[in-house]
Amino acid sequence: MKRVATGNMARMLLNGVLIGLAASLFLYGCAGDEKSAKGKKLYHHYCSHCHGDSGQQGEGFNWDRMPDPRPKNLASNAEMSTFSDKEIFDTIYRDMRDTSDPNVLDDDSYFAVSTMPTFKYTLSEEEIWSIVAHVRTLHGMSLTYDWMGRKKELEEAFQVIQQEMESTKSAYETAIEKAEAAQSAYEDTLTDAQLETYEPKDITVPEEAPFLSINAKFEEAKASVENFSKRPKKTRIERPDLTISDAELAVQVEKGKSLYRNTYGCNGCHSLNDEGGLVGPELDRAGFRLNPTWVYQWIRNPQAMKKHTRMPNLGASDADAKALTYYLGTLRAPISQVPVPEAE
Ligand code: HEC
Ligand code: HEC
Repeated sequence: MKRVATGNMARMLLNGVLIGLAASLFLYGCAGDEKSAKGKKLYHHYCSHCHGDSGQQGEGFNWDRMPDPRPKNLASNAEMSTFSDKEIFDTIYRDMRDTSDPNVLDDDSYFAVSTMPTFKYTLSEEEIWSIVAHVRTLHGMSLTYDWMGRKKELEEAFQVIQQEMESTKSAYETAIEKAEAAQSAYEDTLTDAQLETYEPKDITVPEEAPFLSINAKFEEAKASVENFSKRPKKTRIERPDLTISDAELAVQVEKGKSLYRNTYGCNGCHSLNDEGGLVGPELDRAGFRLNPTWVYQWIRNPQAMKKHTRMPNLGASDADAKALTYYLGTLRAPISQVPVPEAE
């Protein structure tokens, strides 16, 4: 009698565990599906023109116009299964670097192609993971990377740095208080005549440098946690000061020309003299058509001016965006030289 009861208990418990397991697998599966469904939408908006809806070479409308090297076949299991999830993520989430720099070309860990844009400054990390999940389905695999674990890691790193920042900050504040007290004690010893010519010194303490350095890291860690689920901020960029001497202008134009091709791969999406991508408008006459202030602001943060534009924010610095703006200002092809698109 007793044994039967225990057996039943055990079976009931086991059933409970199995139901729980099935439910969590179901939820896990749904979360995965939901993730790649979201990724599919984003992929169609931001990637299909170059990579094709199915990931096949030659399928995207921009394929024929992209400079070499062209992308691999994202639909090929043989080619893509050699990449880890994290490696695929990194190709989408990286800073643009000068690909004509031999150090970049020698760096095997780096993907040295300027015409694959970064999406780091346009989408959230979580959205990019959902895109990786979708890319995996294109070649019959599924995402195994623990992206929730990654989120937790970022949160934990933030907490550690927050504690360090707080103790460094209080050491800094104590040092400032002490220095202020010392200064006012000194002032108390001065005669009225001395006080008349006395200039108080700016208070500086050696504790300031470590505080500023940890504070910068703190802000960075905070941004990483926030940016995991949220897109980078779309704050409108201030009006730039674009006044420049003629001699300096010539230098900046050359720099901008190199950035255009070698760093930011603008030519992957825009054409000049009928060469280059078709994702964005041709820029042959940009110097006539477009206002430099607007161009600068657009390059720094296109999403702040047009929320769903397909042009990603490529993370150009103030200096780089200025050089690009000066360069685009020189693109002044006469109308007759702009090739007329062939009728379909
Ligand atoms: C302007 C065209 C363009 C756009 C837009 C673009 N890519 Fe790429 N992509 C490329 C090029 C070019 C390469 C690199 C080819 C090389 O180095 O072999 C590449 C490489 C890749 C690779 C690595 C495979 C390989 O060929 O080495 C992946 C994965 C990838 N892209 C995914 C994406 C995703 C996801 C998006 C959208 C979020 C996207 N790409 C948007 C052009 C583009
Ligand atoms: C992934 C493709 C892509 C890349 C890379 C890209 N652009 Fe664009 N760009 C676009 C698209 C698409 C538009 C059209 C914007 C819209 O209306 O959404 C555009 C618009 C523009 C415009 C406005 C053109 C006009 O006639 O209104 C300028 C200027 C411009 N881009 C400059 C650049 C520069 C400079 C770079 C490199 C730093 C660059 N783009 C990189 C896709 C791209």
